[in-house]
Amino acid sequence: MNVGIIGTGLLGNAVASRLLKTGHNVIAYNRTVGKTESLKKLGAKIADSPKKVARDSELVITIVKDASAVESVSFGADGIIHGKHEKLIVADMSTISPISSRKIAKKYLEHGIPMIDSPVMGGPLLAEKGELVVMIGGKKETYEKCKPLFDSIGNKSFYLGENGSGHAMKLAMNLQISILALAISEGIILARKSGLDPMDFLKILNSTYFKTGMSLIKGPRMVKGSFEPSFFLKMMQKDLDEINYTAKEFGANLPFAKLANEIYLLAVKDGMGDLDYTGILAYLEKVSKSES
Ligand SMILES: NC(=O)c1ccc[n+]([C@@H]2O[C@H](COP(=O)([O-])OP(=O)(O)OC[C@H]3O[C@@H](n4cnc5c(N)ncnc54)[C@H](OP(=O)(O)O)[C@@H]3O)[C@@H](O)[C@H]2O)c1
Repeated sequence: MNVGIIGTGLLGNAVASRLLKTGHNVIAYNRTVGKTESLKKLGAKIADSPKKVARDSELVITIVKDASAVESVSFGADGIIHGKHEKLIVADMSTISPISSRKIAKKYLEHGIPMIDSPVMGGPLLAEKGELVVMIGGKKETYEKCKPLFDSIGNKSFYLGENGSGHAMKLAMNLQISILALAISEGIILARKSGLDPMDFLKILNSTYFKTGMSLIKGPRMVKGSFEPSFFLKMMQKDLDEINYTAKEFGANLPFAKLANEIYLLAVKDGMGDLDYTGILAYLEKVSKSES
C-alpha cells in the first residue's frame, strides 16, 4: 500500500519508520523539512506538500500537533484535498477533540473523501515495534479497508463507532496518563521528603496490584531525573485543554482534569514544555523546594 504520513515529529517519524520496515511505500511530508531526513535514508519518498502526498497515496495519515494543524494540512493551500483521487482515504492520528474531528470529517466528506479518526495509545517506542493500540471512529467499511495497515503499526485496533469516537476515547485515555504521572510524582516527592529512598517507593508499588507500565518503565527514570521526551509535556497540556473543552461541551464535570491542566500549564509556563510529560515531577519538585 502507498501510505502518506503528514507530520514526522516524534510519533509520525516512528510510525513511518515502522511502515517502511514492514514493506509499505511511504510518502512523507513535514512542515519543517529537516525532520524528514532520517526517513529519507530509510527509503521514504519525501514530498514538499500535503497535496503531493495525497496524490501518490491510497491512505494518508495525519500526525500533527492539534486540530488547527490538521485543518491546515487538510484544507489549506496545497492541502490534502487538492491531491484527491478516487481511492484516497484519510486517517487522523493526531490527538484532537471529537468535536473538531467531526467537523473535519464532515468537511472531508463534502470533498468526497472518506475520513476516519485513528488516534493511538503508546508512543514512538511502541510504534517502532508495531505495538500501538489504535482507536477508530468513522465508517466501519473505511476502517476495514485500512485495518491491515493498522495491524502493521499496532497489536490491537478497536472500532468504536461514528467519527470522533476514537478521539473521545483517546482523551479519556490521556486523562489517565496525565493524572498517573502526577500521582507517581507526588509519591516520589513524599518518599524523598520523608527520608526514604524513592526507588524503594517504586519497588514496593511495583510489587502490588497498583503497578503500571509507567511505574515500571518511566518511574526509575523519573527518580533519576531523566526526562528525555517520548511525548512532550506541552503536548500533554494541549491534550488536557482538549479534555476540558470536550468535557464542557458534553456536560461532564471533571475536577481532576481541570486541576491537572492548571498544574501542567504552570510547568509549561516555567519552561518545562519540552521535557517528557513525566517531567511534571521536576516542576512539582521545584515548587516543593521553593515552599519549604
Ligand atoms: N509522542 C507520543 O507518544 C504520542 C502518542 C499518541 C498521540 N500523540 C499525538 O500525535 C500528535 C503528534 O505528536 P508528536 O509527539 O509527534 O509531537 P511533535 O514531535 O511535537 O510533532 C508535532 C508535529 O506536528 C507538526 N505541526 C505542528 N503544527 C503544525 C501546523 N500548523 N501545520 C503543519 N504541521 C504542524 C510539526 O511540524 P514541525 O516539525 O514543522 O513543527 C510536527 O510534525 C499530537 O497530536 C500528539 O498529541 C503523540
